[in-house]
Amino acid sequence: MRIVMIGTGYVGLVSGVCFSEFGFDVTCVDVDEKKIERLNAGEVPIFEPGLDALMQRNTAGGRLAFTTDLATAAGEADVVFVAVGTPSRRGDGEADLTYVEAAARQIAAAIRPGTVVVIKSTVVVGTCRRVRDIIRAARPDLDFSIASNPEFLREGAAIEDFMRPNRVICGVDDERAEQMLRRLYRPLYLRETPMVMTTLENAELIKYAANAFLAMKITFINEVSDLCEKVGGNVQEVARGIGLDHRIGGKFLHAGPGYGGSCFPKDTKAFASTGRRHEAPQTLIEQVIAVNDNRKRAMAERILAELGDGAKGATVGILGIAFKPNTDDVRDAPSLEIIPMLQAKGVSVRAHDPEARETASPLLPGITWCESAYEAADGADILVILTEWNEYRVLDFAEVTARMKGRTLMDLRAIYKDDDMAGTGLRYVPVGRKPVEG
Ligand code: UDX
Repeated sequence: MRIVMIGTGYVGLVSGVCFSEFGFDVTCVDVDEKKIERLNAGEVPIFEPGLDALMQRNTAGGRLAFTTDLATAAGEADVVFVAVGTPSRRGDGEADLTYVEAAARQIAAAIRPGTVVVIKSTVVVGTCRRVRDIIRAARPDLDFSIASNPEFLREGAAIEDFMRPNRVICGVDDERAEQMLRRLYRPLYLRETPMVMTTLENAELIKYAANAFLAMKITFINEVSDLCEKVGGNVQEVARGIGLDHRIGGKFLHAGPGYGGSCFPKDTKAFASTGRRHEAPQTLIEQVIAVNDNRKRAMAERILAELGDGAKGATVGILGIAFKPNTDDVRDAPSLEIIPMLQAKGVSVRAHDPEARETASPLLPGITWCESAYEAADGADILVILTEWNEYRVLDFAEVTARMKGRTLMDLRAIYKDDDMAGTGLRYVPVGRKPVEG
């Protein structure tokens, strides 16, 4: 069985490497020659725990290769996955299908009869049929199949999510595609992973509806969090209390500075836009998008309010720049919204992140990068926890207070308990409950 994975971005690379770990023969293709060179040299271009070891093992085992030559690779494949990017289109927020369509045209020219073409990229409903039409138009006599197989990988936990998914979603419209996907995911049968075999349209919709629902859940708890702060509640206890109801579930109920990342912001916009286009407005999701955008700004205002009249010339230390821990990804990260707003008011920003410095540096001019959380606290009037990296969960508060100028620790992820603050001398301002004096 020969698999070709087109696109070595996050999804393509993780999926390709994991399929080779299942024992299949995988070739990953990308147009970016430098990237392919680096991959061939064994370098992993993204930060994803565990990926480098899997990549090494399978490259050494001869099951994993990287190339820019799509035509040759696709011409020898039994199954071709399309995992290229679908960024937000400027203006209407719909997913930009330029790369998917370009891949479809190249695949059309290269594949042999009997090949199954699987769309893994997140694409709006109807795209799989469009890809099929593109291939058919180019090769009217070619016998091939099309399928949809959306991914649900979380950055930082992507390998685990691939190897132990809650479910695998497969959109098919013929027997060959169904059998191919069943064969590819057979290694998961032992774990009794549910396989949802459905239509192309349903598979495309499931991906967007799942992400929209999760984004809505986070946004819901963020608004509840605001109310908790006003009325003496504690959002973590409220979340636990409602989450124990199995109909609600406890996951994705952590209040924070608003969701970011490569998926939720882009996919909610595309979903809302598709709804508008088909005159089935997704008003809940439209609202989720607006509330989440406002939230990031509100977090900056919260920090500025804490500084009061002294914002101009003040120093704020920021812990965590990535949109979440265990990744160097800063796409749509709250930090990118919050920090420029602080700078615009004359605040100097010192920042630390264990992984995201390189990716964030070009996007955040004028900040002072620090080697450690403690260095970020140096001379700071306020220290802000923005991303819940593990190393921020065990800060030595004596050192923090010794280095800071002020004594306010704002925790936008609420990772500490009030009791942890006892005797620290810090004023602890978490999201979702009232501040405490330590
Ligand atoms: C998400 C989906 O989980 C995954 O299934 C999909 O394929 C891609 O998008 P990812 O973006 O990697 O994955 O991260 P995730 O862990 O879902 O977090 C997304 C954002 O929501 C982050 O900014 C995170 O901080 C925020 N979040 C998440 C919260 O604020 N609260 C929560 O309870 C959970």
